[in-house]
Amino acid sequence: MTAPAGPLPSRDELLSIALEAATAAASLITGDRPEDLGAETKSSPTDLVTLMDRRSEALIAETIRRYRPDDRIVGEEAAGADPVDPVGEPSGVTWWVDPIDGTTNYVYDHPGYAVSVAAQLDGRTVAGVVADPTHGRVYRATLGGGAFCDDEHTGRSLRLDLGDPPPLDRALVATGFSYLPDVRATQARVVAELIARVRDIRRMGAAALDLCSVASGRVDAYYEAGLSVWDYAAGALVAGEAGASVTALDGSQVRPGSVLCAHPRLAERLIEELRVIGPGDSIGPGE
Ligand code: IPD
Ligand code: CA
Ligand code: CA
Repeated sequence: MTAPAGPLPSRDELLSIALEAATAAASLITGDRPEDLGAETKSSPTDLVTLMDRRSEALIAETIRRYRPDDRIVGEEAAGADPVDPVGEPSGVTWWVDPIDGTTNYVYDHPGYAVSVAAQLDGRTVAGVVADPTHGRVYRATLGGGAFCDDEHTGRSLRLDLGDPPPLDRALVATGFSYLPDVRATQARVVAELIARVRDIRRMGAAALDLCSVASGRVDAYYEAGLSVWDYAAGALVAGEAGASVTALDGSQVRPGSVLCAHPRLAERLIEELRVIGPGDSIGPGE
């Protein structure tokens, strides 16, 4: 690995760039939403990308580049091609960008989509922002610096801190599904078992927001197989800094393809329950 060129940036510096990029992109996708979104399909006929996903990603990359031309940027839409390589010597910072998380909601104009931007140093997420324009909320966190939600309507900034968890049979559990029909069918069989053992299930449609919902107590837990790093990097940091445990579905280290998030005591129970139901990690590879 090439040594980073120049001193490493502080977490707060990276956060402020992530904030500028994510909030600008969130304004773009709501304020500049065209009549015709130019929707096309990707991995399956249900996996959508619009011209606004591409515009949002371009704006985020441009904003990051302005401050940090030597960072690596991995955006969901460009990742089909190649990551945006640094202009000069790599700096050691990698940005993970989901320009619209919840594209299906966005296409249907259904609330519950977000822009997610995370900065990693040596594979560790150190700063993350999830901007939720329909609810006017911006979630932000730095590693070791806590997690916050800025509410545009009240003008208040709330520090996020998980309270005591309910028992599993009173827990509201969010999950999500792959775009691949076979994987989705297996995931649905797992949910069909789990729903009888918890308070209820939610499928909101944006992984980054699901993680922030755990952080802010809007759901008690979230799990999903098949996610990519751009889906979860920022939200996982927000949830982790709010006191949640973020692991793989089997309790091992979180990785692409396997994310489970809840208060540590509830997470332990959910991991156990999923082990009994038996999805393993066989329900969807990640990126
Ligand atoms: C999707 C959303 C969805 C999750 C999928 C993701 P996209 O991201 O986060 O909630 O269930 O696994 O791929 O495609 O809208 O960016
Ligand atoms: Ca996504
Ligand atoms: Ca996306």
